[in-house]
Amino acid sequence: MRLPADMSVWLTAAVGLAVLAYAYIRTFSPYFFDDCVSILRSLTLGYRLIKYKTCKPFYSILDCFLDAVRRHPSKVFIHFEGRAYSYGEVDRQSNKVARALQVEARLREGDSVALFLPNEPSFVWTWLGLAKLGCPAALLNFNIRSKSLLHCFSCCGAKVLVASPELLDAVEEVLPTLREQGIRVFLLSGSCSLEGVTPLADKIAEASDKPLSPELRAKVHIRSTALYIYTSGTTGLPKAAVVTHERVWAASFVQAACGTTAADIFYINLPLYHSAGFLIGMAGGIERGLTLVLKRKFSASQFWDDCRKHNVTVMQYIGETLRYLCNTPKKENEKNHKVRIAIGNGVRSDVWTEFLNRFGNIKVRELYAATEGNIGFINYTSKIGAVGRINFVHRFFFPYTLIKFDIEKEEPIRNSEGLCIEADIGETGLLVGKITHRSPFVGYAGNKQQTEKKRLYDVLKKGDQYFNTGDLLCFDHDNFVYFQDRVGDTFRWKGENVATSEVADILTASHCISEANVYGVKVEGHEGRIGMAAITLTEGEVFDSADVYKQVVSYLPAYARPRFLRIQPSMEMTGTFKMKKVKLVEEGFSPALIEDPLYFLDPEQKTYVPLKEEIYSAIASGKIKL
Ligand SMILES: *[C@@H]1O[C@H](CO)[C@@H](O)[C@H](O)[C@H]1NC(C)=O
Ligand SMILES: *[C@@H]1O[C@H](CO)[C@@H](O)[C@H](O)[C@H]1NC(C)=O
Repeated sequence: MRLPADMSVWLTAAVGLAVLAYAYIRTFSPYFFDDCVSILRSLTLGYRLIKYKTCKPFYSILDCFLDAVRRHPSKVFIHFEGRAYSYGEVDRQSNKVARALQVEARLREGDSVALFLPNEPSFVWTWLGLAKLGCPAALLNFNIRSKSLLHCFSCCGAKVLVASPELLDAVEEVLPTLREQGIRVFLLSGSCSLEGVTPLADKIAEASDKPLSPELRAKVHIRSTALYIYTSGTTGLPKAAVVTHERVWAASFVQAACGTTAADIFYINLPLYHSAGFLIGMAGGIERGLTLVLKRKFSASQFWDDCRKHNVTVMQYIGETLRYLCNTPKKENEKNHKVRIAIGNGVRSDVWTEFLNRFGNIKVRELYAATEGNIGFINYTSKIGAVGRINFVHRFFFPYTLIKFDIEKEEPIRNSEGLCIEADIGETGLLVGKITHRSPFVGYAGNKQQTEKKRLYDVLKKGDQYFNTGDLLCFDHDNFVYFQDRVGDTFRWKGENVATSEVADILTASHCISEANVYGVKVEGHEGRIGMAAITLTEGEVFDSADVYKQVVSYLPAYARPRFLRIQPSMEMTGTFKMKKVKLVEEGFSPALIEDPLYFLDPEQKTYVPLKEEIYSAIASGKIKL
């Protein structure tokens, strides 16, 4: 790769040094060393990003993978279920997939392809194969079904679906509509009896494993779309966040910023269809040239044995997974492992502390970032509870601020001139990131309205533009950043965002439910909020628990199902005809406090059962697991 003699690079470095000196004076503190390390890392990575932006031909994460293959073809890239796949082997396999798809699906540079695959090595080499053809991949969440699944095609414009045989049932359900829309379906299996589904395994096996010409992806540049990653939004259906190559690079630098090296062994137990697993874990692993241990799904009981077996040195988490690890029975050898860094987000301070007590001296690197956002933080100082630290270099390059926010009205508070007001230190505010050339906001594919909703205008000056993260944060006097809550209609449960209107749509499809107001409620000892819905019944109908249960389990992934229902005589609305939630959320699900009939989704009885005091106390004491 040639280096451009680009002045802006040196200018950036010079500005960086000036800011560093400034930061020295401003932040001389117990965290000075951590700040310096982080600032130097930010500068190095910022320099590389600028280099990639200007270098021709464009150097993508795929080129980085190919360089790793040249450097160490026989080094293990992925350990999976007892088998090791080397860098060279994954490269050759991706060549075969690319060639098979090139012929069978007649893919051309720029065609989007939807991947509907579980966490397994084929996910990685199928994506690499598509990258070699210059095709963006849409990473479908393998838990979604029916209407949501179909919707994912219309937003990214994919005309080709590559699916795993184990997800064939879900494909079959939507197949007639896919065929109507001219979407061709390929299955990674040797045979398939369904009409309209092409089995691909034999074609891949027969294809040549010779490298593909870079000419096939000659038009790809730093601002082109690399991926679509789905996030659930307030409109109900998933939104496809457009992930450019620039964003792929920025996210894959997270590992470097946290201090991992090529000698590390990185354990991925999060889904590859999310940005955490795919970008930070897998793409970051490629950027470092390290070895990944890939897991089909997270398992608390196997976690440390896996780490010991593979000498794992870096792990990834979401808040809930750390708690699951802390909930496992104590064992003798718990500190006997080589894990030195944990990268993730959403852990509560008490869990964090217990985790360190139980499992030893692990550096927890808590991140804050949205897939589609233009701002993120890393907690590089290991300050418990903080998601990050205000770092002057970072803020210089990616300007952001917190603004005062009215929770009840769900909008920023504005002054008499119509501008937003910055939150005070210690005050919770809405995080907004300035939209600039350097920190662009690309938005959602095929959804102008949703994209526009995430933009805020006239924030600090007339005419400026900010990305609205929808997250409430708080800064403290020592420059630490704390995450507080998500605004509005989306809540989080088990690490997944639940879009309340999507759940409401499913509930009201049952004949007995007229209206549904879905929200999340806190349960003692759990992160996030569990799903609950206040419903009104259709006139003349009684509550049909079996039908509602059937509806919910057929169309919603487990984390999105409302575990509690509250039947109300009528729905309380706001002045602007939005359903009132705040009071319902506060009232929770205690049968002692609520007069309305309450129901509980009981997975063992496979229906909604009346929520009696015994059930409530069994949940409170942890006897019933949620
Ligand atoms: C893990 O490390 C130990 C000691 O450093 C070594 O003996 C062992 O072979 C390693 N295991 C693997 C799977 O690399
Ligand atoms: C930052 O890391 C430290 C130490 O690892 C931790 O104690 C602190 O809670 C973290 N902050 C957040 C917000 O996670």
